[in-house]
Amino acid sequence: MWQPPERIRHPLPEARWPTRERAERSRLFSPIRVGPVWLRQRTWVPAMVPWRATRGGEVTRELIEWYARLAAGEPGALVVEATGIRDIPSGPLLRIGDDRFVGGLRELTGAVRDASRGRTALFIQLIDFLRVRRRPRRERFLREFLAIGDHHREALAARLGERFLRAAPEAVRAALERLDDDALAAILTPREYEDLTRGYRERVTDTWLPHIRELPTVLPELFAGAAERAARAGFDGVELHYAHAYTMASFLSARNTRADGYGGSQTARVRLPREVLEAVRARVGDRLAVGVRFLGDEVIEGGSGPDDAAFFGRQFAEAGADVLSISKGGKFEDAKRPAVGSAVYPYTGRSGYECMPTVFSDARGPFGRNVALAATVRRSVRATGLSTPVVAAGGIHHFDQAEDIVARGEADVVAAARQSLADPDWFLKMRLGRGDEIRRCEYTNYCEGLDQKHKQVTCKRWDRTALDEPDVRLDASGRRRLTAPAWRSR
Ligand SMILES: Cc1cc2nc3c(=O)[nH]c(=O)nc-3n(C[C@H](O)[C@H](O)[C@H](O)COP(=O)(O)O)c2cc1C
Ligand code: SF4
Repeated sequence: MWQPPERIRHPLPEARWPTRERAERSRLFSPIRVGPVWLRQRTWVPAMVPWRATRGGEVTRELIEWYARLAAGEPGALVVEATGIRDIPSGPLLRIGDDRFVGGLRELTGAVRDASRGRTALFIQLIDFLRVRRRPRRERFLREFLAIGDHHREALAARLGERFLRAAPEAVRAALERLDDDALAAILTPREYEDLTRGYRERVTDTWLPHIRELPTVLPELFAGAAERAARAGFDGVELHYAHAYTMASFLSARNTRADGYGGSQTARVRLPREVLEAVRARVGDRLAVGVRFLGDEVIEGGSGPDDAAFFGRQFAEAGADVLSISKGGKFEDAKRPAVGSAVYPYTGRSGYECMPTVFSDARGPFGRNVALAATVRRSVRATGLSTPVVAAGGIHHFDQAEDIVARGEADVVAAARQSLADPDWFLKMRLGRGDEIRRCEYTNYCEGLDQKHKQVTCKRWDRTALDEPDVRLDASGRRRLTAPAWRSR
């Protein structure tokens, strides 16, 4: 993963934990309304993919245990990982694109309700994404994938002789294969060169492809259908994934130059995300809370920044979103070049760092690093007279910090992903005045490294402990436990 060049190692700040009475009186542990749902407290576990679904996208026992374990800490809200809305093979990504997924998801919602004693509102994050292929071997790319065109023939003719102007595709491919890397790079278009060195990746601007051109026609129904299934599966809410590297974030991006009314100006870029939100709302009414997660800043050259986010936040609030969750970065554009045979991963560049910052940082450090973005969106929404709650995330890990964010009005709800992974009971421990029992996240991203390899995600603070406990479930290697050890709270 990219790290700020300063590489300042930030120690974990001292944490003062509240007494039970102080926690009970705090804003953090006060309720808040999110559309048709009440959160009992302003604590939130944001979406985290743990890679525990089947290759068909179905719920597994391991997945249910993962969410039940997070729910045992009784957060105000828990968001189930990014879940695919289409009925297409998507590797081991959880899916909700057909009615056959509803049964498994219903089991999951039941397990969460039991484990949290009905105290946690359960959301599911709905995602659409475009095709990304693995980086090919050079020979395979040139022999099978590259579409031979006149620009290749002309460049070869200039180098090797006029006969290439009329050469058959096979002869062009063979000649390209014989070139060294620099010469090849000079002949391929930037997009072809990217396909070769990073793997083919579709963009929302590839409107010459019918399925990309038609995204504005098909996505509202796909998201609405998925939300309907979420309601039938017993979720309290859905979160529309408009953040990071995926389809909807790409529509919002300042890099979206579509010329069909869905790209260019801020208003055109937010048009499809708004239409999707409206379609979802029309389908589920107030049976579900409908949230939107989007970026406060893309952190890429030519990408959207906080001003865009402020505008989008107002638009979503006006269109009836019940909650806005603000993330940052996590883009393909600045991701590291993958190894041959691997796919590009959107959390390896600077924007990825900003999404999940580590303790190896610049002078600002990783803690609460992205709160200002949530505050910008919240101010913008409040200026229109709307009170839509805003969720902040990014390096939030102790009571005073979380309480101050809410007290200062920077956000209404506080999310913690990695701290909740390190200790799923941490919110509960704080509320019970037992904060000194919290297992603290070290923010060195061992978990994110597993995510990157699509390995079952665990935490280094607990995955090798008490492996001999009865009923402990281990990963495929038999060396790591899959859920945190139980906390005997009562
Ligand atoms: C293993 C892992 C998986 C994640 N998966 C998702 C995801 O599915 N959807 C999403 O919006 N964010 C995802 N995130 C980002 C988190 O929700 C969160 O925004 C980020 O980790 C910063 O918060 P933190 O500092 O509290 O960890 C993931 C993070 C981690 C560590
Ligand atoms: S693996 Fe590291 S960064 Fe991830 S949750 Fe555990 S302590 Fe935190």
